[in-house]
Amino acid sequence: MADANPFQDPLRFERRVPPCAIVIFGANGDLTKRKLLPALYRLAYERRIPQNFAMVGNSRTPMSDEDFRQKMKESVQKFIENSPFDESVWESFEQTLYYVAGDLKDTRCYQAIQKKLAEAEQQNQTGDNVLYYLSTQPSYYEIVIEQLGKHTMNRGKGWRRIVIEKPFGHDLASAHKLNQQTHEVFPEEDVYRIDHYLGKETVQNILAFRFGNGIFEPLWNRRYVNNVQITAAESIGVEGRGAYYQEAGALRDMIQNHLLQVMATVTMEPPTVFDATNVRDERAKLLRAIRVMKPEQVPLYAVAGQYGPAKIGGQQVPGFRQEEGVDPESQTDTYAAGTFFVDNWRWAGVPFYIRSGKRLPKRVTDIAIQFNAPPLAMFQQETRMGPRAPRPNLLVLRIQPEEGISLRFLSKSPGSGMRVRPVSMDFNYGSSFGERSPSAYETLLVDVMTGDPTLYTRQDMVEASWKVVQPILDVWQNQKFNFPNYDAGTWGPRESDEMLARQGHVWRTP
Ligand code: BG6
Repeated sequence: MADANPFQDPLRFERRVPPCAIVIFGANGDLTKRKLLPALYRLAYERRIPQNFAMVGNSRTPMSDEDFRQKMKESVQKFIENSPFDESVWESFEQTLYYVAGDLKDTRCYQAIQKKLAEAEQQNQTGDNVLYYLSTQPSYYEIVIEQLGKHTMNRGKGWRRIVIEKPFGHDLASAHKLNQQTHEVFPEEDVYRIDHYLGKETVQNILAFRFGNGIFEPLWNRRYVNNVQITAAESIGVEGRGAYYQEAGALRDMIQNHLLQVMATVTMEPPTVFDATNVRDERAKLLRAIRVMKPEQVPLYAVAGQYGPAKIGGQQVPGFRQEEGVDPESQTDTYAAGTFFVDNWRWAGVPFYIRSGKRLPKRVTDIAIQFNAPPLAMFQQETRMGPRAPRPNLLVLRIQPEEGISLRFLSKSPGSGMRVRPVSMDFNYGSSFGERSPSAYETLLVDVMTGDPTLYTRQDMVEASWKVVQPILDVWQNQKFNFPNYDAGTWGPRESDEMLARQGHVWRTP
C-alpha cells in the first residue's frame, strides 16, 4: 500500500523532498566533485530540491564558504552531463553551500559542523532534518559514525539519516563489524548503503521489463534459459586510483556489490508489492540462494586477471604494475570472472557468468540472456564459412552506454533455400523517449531525502553478497598469480574463456 506520508511514494510520482541539510564528509574528494555536486545542482535546476536546503561540506583542506562555492562551481561546470549550466540557478543554489574544515578524528570538527548546521538552519530553514553522507576513505567510516553518536548528532527534532558509500567493508567479517558499529549509532531504517548501479535507469528498468510485461516472465527460468552472461567492461585503467584499487581489485570493486546486485535484479522473484520491504526482501532472498563455492571449486569457477602494458590505437599504455601507487609485484586482480549458480527452483543448474575488468577493449555493461535452442534443429544458419547450427535466441539488456534492449531471433534469408539468419529487434532509450534520464546519483539522493530505501542495500543483502565472494578472496589471497595475464585492450585472460568452455559455452563479444 502507498504510504500516506507525502514525502514517500513507492512508485516515485508525487515525491517531494522535505526541507533538509546534507553534510558531506569527504567534500574535497573525487566523488563529491564528479557525482554528488553535479547531481545536487541538477536537482536544484529542476526545482526538485526545496528552497529550504543546505549542504555542509567537510574535509581537511582549509577553505572559506566562498572558496568552497567557487571550487564546487568549477566541478559542476566540468562534470555535469547532458545538461546546461545556468548561471542564475547556480547563484541561488550556491547560497545553500557551506564548508567546515576539520580533521575527522578531532572532536572540534564535529562541534564546528553542529555550529554550521545551526547557522544553515537559521538561514535556510532546513527543518532540523539532517542527512550525513560518508564519502571519505573507508578507514574513516567507523570514526565518523562513532563521533556522530558521541556528539548526539544522530538524534534531533527532525530525522537523521546516513548514507554510506561503497566499499562497505573489505570482506565479510569487516562488513559485519561495520554493520554492528553503525547500528550502535543509527537504527537500520536510517542507514542507506549506496550502490549506484541500483539507481541507474536501465537497472531499474529490468524490474519494469520483467514485471510490467506478461510475455517474458513465463520464459524466465531454467526450462527456457540456457545461460546468462553479465559483463561490465571498462576501457580505462585505474585513473589515479592505483592506491585504492591495489587494495580492492575487480572482484571487490565491481562484482561483490554492483554486479551481484544486478544479478539479483535479473533473477529475483516478483515482489507482491513494489515497496522497499518487499523489493529488498526478494533481492536478499536471491542473494542468499547463490551457491557459495567450496575452496576446491574456486579454480574451476573463478578467474583472476591483471593487465600488462600494450599498444592501443598506436599509443603505449602502461600495465597495472606500472601505474602510480601500485606495487610493481602486485597480485591484485584488474579482471575477475566467475560462474555462479542460484540454488532455487527457478534457476537450478543455469550458469550465470559474471565478468568485469579494467582496460578491456571498450566500455560496456550488459546482461545477455541466452535461451535454449529449439528441440529440433530444422534449419541451418548461413555463415560465410558455410551452413552451421543456428545461434539461439538472445535477449540483451544494455545497461550502458547504448542503453536499450535487443532480442535476437532467426529469420529466413531471402532466396529460394530455407536458410535462416539471426536478426534483432531493438529498443533504444534515446530514440524511444527522447528525454534525458536522471543520473543514478540524482535518483538515489532524492530517494534518501524522501526516506525511500528501495534502491539502497540492506544489512542482510550486503553480508549475503560478501558471503558469495569470500571463498574466492580467501583462495586468491594465498595464490601466487602469474600476472600480468592479459594485454591492455583485450578481453581478459585465456583462463576465462576456458572456464566457459568447460560448460560448453563461449563469452559473447558485446
Ligand atoms: C565504481 C568503481 O564503484 O564504479 C569504479 O569503484 C568503476 O572502479 C565504477 O569505474 C563504474 O561505474 P559506472 O557507473 O561508470 O559504470
